[in-house]
Amino acid sequence: MNMKHDSEISNRNIIRRFWKTTVAVSRIRKTSAAVLSVLCFTACDSGDIIPKKDTGNKEIVATVSFTHVETIPAVRERKLAFMSYTNPGDEQPNRMHVITTAQEGAPTELSLTQVPDDTRQVVLALVDQDNQIIYPFFEKEISSSSDRVDLGAVTVNLIAYDRVQKQLFNQSCLDCHSGGNLSRGLNLGEGQSYRAIVNVESKVPGMPIVKPGDVESSLIVKQLTDYNTGSFHTTLTTMKDNDITLLKEWIRNGAPVN
Ligand code: HEC
Repeated sequence: MNMKHDSEISNRNIIRRFWKTTVAVSRIRKTSAAVLSVLCFTACDSGDIIPKKDTGNKEIVATVSFTHVETIPAVRERKLAFMSYTNPGDEQPNRMHVITTAQEGAPTELSLTQVPDDTRQVVLALVDQDNQIIYPFFEKEISSSSDRVDLGAVTVNLIAYDRVQKQLFNQSCLDCHSGGNLSRGLNLGEGQSYRAIVNVESKVPGMPIVKPGDVESSLIVKQLTDYNTGSFHTTLTTMKDNDITLLKEWIRNGAPVN
């Protein structure tokens, strides 16, 4: 009898312990889900991805109208970012706001909040995944010590040719198309590339390297994207989707000099 009694008690204990553990685990799960969603809400909503270590009281705003918003990157490797720097040329910004969408031509207020008071520069730029600037759209020095700095209205042309140069050619092509190494005689170096590609005949008769306004008839797009050509150009790992979107939009819009 005693034995049975004992084992009944210990069984009950085991069941009770089991319940306690299950409830505790589910509590932990619920709490971590809540913590995660709060984290995600703050991080994803604000677009500020620099940890707020050194924060201050400054707010910096600009009213920006973007043209050619389809070339705003949606990927990690390329980002359109509004950033502040403690000193011009610093390795990393002290605050950062990533812009992933905008309405074509509509004035949009961009702001950086809790900016450190000793901030000296603001930059709107296309950056890589390590926040290194590939192409700056505008840069402004901040000398004012006031809490709110308004940079006013700015228009940003997202398909400037200089962006094509820096985002596509400088990142992916210069090893074989600049200086003493000109494959097929094609020079894609800074200050050289435009006259080497726009309305210039290519290896395919009747198909210029870039035909302004005509993406389909521009050899450069075929060379970089058409797998049927068998060219290694389609597999260049430094080249990202957004680089091609930019190239196509620039050509579609008449391949302007800037
Ligand atoms: C690893 C070396 C290498 C890299 C990097 C490279 N190319 Fe080339 N490219 C070549 C070679 C070799 C040829 C000639 C063979 C051919 O046409 O595919 C060529 C040919 C071309 C042609 C055809 C020119 C003509 O007159 O027909 C274009 C356009 C071109 N490259 C664009 C680019 C662009 C744009 C990039 C960067 C995104 C790039 N290449 C990167 C080696 C390279």
